[in-house]
Amino acid sequence: MDLTHRPRRLRRDGVRGLVSETSLEPSDLIAPVFVDATTDERIPIESMPGHERVPIDESVARVEEVLETGVEAVMLFGIPKSKDAEGTRAWVEDGVVQEATRRITDETDAYVVTDVCLCEYTDHGHCGPLEEELRGETDHDHGPGCEHDPTLTVDNDATLESLERIAVSHAEAGAHMVAPSGMMDGMVAAIRNGLDDAGYQEMPIMSYAAKYESAFYGPFRDAADGAPSFGNRRHYQMDPANAREAVREVRLDAEQGADVMMVKPALPYLDIVSAIRREFDHPVAAYNVSGEYAMLHAAAEKGWLDLKAVAYESLLSIKRAGADLILTYFAEDVAERLG
Ligand code: PBG
Repeated sequence: MDLTHRPRRLRRDGVRGLVSETSLEPSDLIAPVFVDATTDERIPIESMPGHERVPIDESVARVEEVLETGVEAVMLFGIPKSKDAEGTRAWVEDGVVQEATRRITDETDAYVVTDVCLCEYTDHGHCGPLEEELRGETDHDHGPGCEHDPTLTVDNDATLESLERIAVSHAEAGAHMVAPSGMMDGMVAAIRNGLDDAGYQEMPIMSYAAKYESAFYGPFRDAADGAPSFGNRRHYQMDPANAREAVREVRLDAEQGADVMMVKPALPYLDIVSAIRREFDHPVAAYNVSGEYAMLHAAAEKGWLDLKAVAYESLLSIKRAGADLILTYFAEDVAERLG
């Protein structure tokens, strides 16, 4: 055969690494950590093997375990000791994330990112306080059976005030970066203003800019006890059918001063990661979510997949698509393999 081009020449050991286009480092990864104010013991999360909710007293120990693997950053989620309609435990000084953040930043070198959202703190499980939204005519009494049944929705602008308070309370506790995940319009601007007014001009915001209304969040909602008690999140999270809308969402967050743009979930949305990489010059984060983790574990448990290999390949693919950093429940396992 007279073949000029033989791509196989560069696939041999020795040269393979020299020509590889993508690399994955422990420093690209953020490990999610769940801190639970309702428990004194670690509670395994059934649908996320290897992950636990840890009591506040164990939060430093938990983060030290992460650091030992070579991962340098954590994302904190909190389960509060009580919930109410407004989610007030989300911004109190003695809140679960505030307390854990103080201890972790005092006692470790971890880079601490905090999730800024209300769904774990409201008793109805939605990402902000609710308001009644009336469809159609509003100038008559909407009694039972009326075709203009009021439906409940999250009150966007009231939520912004709460998000601002949460972000400032996290900053005061010593967090290094805040990550608003509620998909409220204007959330980045509100948080930026709040942080700047409180003297935290240097604190970066990683916005969950393109967050989809995804069924892949199921295990997380068990883990963080944040499932909506009625309805769904379709009225604020994005429609999985839309790609152009993601570009628009990211543009709005860029205008409001977001520093890092996140796409979530990751694997089923690599086209979005790649589009955001092309359109913007901001760092791009991708959230390899709980369902992406759970499905690989479930298949591996049946002996159908090699867990270590598919975990590594998944994260490598997310980087190849254009992500600079990845939030992933595989952070520790993959970092250990890399180290
Ligand atoms: C909520 C939040 C969610 C996740 C991160 N922050 C859940 C949701 O929107 O329902 C999901 C993460 C995962 O599935 O791993 N603010």
